[in-house]
Amino acid sequence: MTETTTSSRTAMIEVIKVSKSYPPNVTALADISVSIASGEVFFLIGRSGAGKTTLLKLLSNMDKPSTGLIEVAGMNIHQVTGNKLAKLRQKVGMAYQDFRLLTERTVAENIAISMEVSYKKPQIIRSRVRSLLAQLQLEDKHDILTGDLSRGEQQRVALARAVANSPTLILVDEPTGNLDATSTAQVMELLVRCSNSGATIVIATHDETLYRHSTHRVMRLHNGKLASLTRGNEI
Ligand SMILES: Nc1ncnc2c1ncn2[C@@H]1O[C@H](COP(=O)(O)OP(=O)(O)O)[C@@H](O)[C@H]1O
Ligand SMILES: [Mg+2]
Repeated sequence: MTETTTSSRTAMIEVIKVSKSYPPNVTALADISVSIASGEVFFLIGRSGAGKTTLLKLLSNMDKPSTGLIEVAGMNIHQVTGNKLAKLRQKVGMAYQDFRLLTERTVAENIAISMEVSYKKPQIIRSRVRSLLAQLQLEDKHDILTGDLSRGEQQRVALARAVANSPTLILVDEPTGNLDATSTAQVMELLVRCSNSGATIVIATHDETLYRHSTHRVMRLHNGKLASLTRGNEI
């Protein structure tokens, strides 16, 4: 059998018998259990409607499971409150499938938000924003309102915002859906850099070129159920 369990590294994420239903009778996730190691790059695949976004929303604490338990960095994320919850939120960065940018704010303002919330110094924020824009070839968009960008540009700004504050857990939902091959490669390079710095990364995608030749683990969901869990180069 393929070795698809995590190694002796500590788990960043423990998903334990998680189900999620939406009224009246949609089962978006059914009895999912998986452990994702600290520093791992983990892919989530499956057809549209399979439950990928639902799982990312549960991992990011935007929504609660109907049953089951999710631990991130050893904490039951749906029970933490107050200061611990605020700290947990700072450790997690999510790039949403529908971007959720502040369209009346500039690119730089959108990317800066998470760093401002955690009181980073203005010159550190400025240089991080410029560095991220350079890595994504968006240098000339610094002062443009995000509402005026193309979808491919908005998608990359959403990713830059998610990783800006160097979160330990990065959740990305279809990060290359609107991108050409060059931009896709730049996005993956940025994520690899985050991974090399120690971040754990979960990527939901339709694009098999992102994982096909890799040894990263790939979990396929089908109608909310875990259909397979294998390495990218073994699919
Ligand atoms: N807020 C919601 N209310 C009702 N049904 C939902 C909601 N969010 C997702 N669903 C349903 O849950 C299932 C899984 O959706 P989703 O997680 O978005 O799939 P994927 O991201 O893999 O395309 C789909 O059938 C979808 O219609
Ligand atoms: Mg989705």
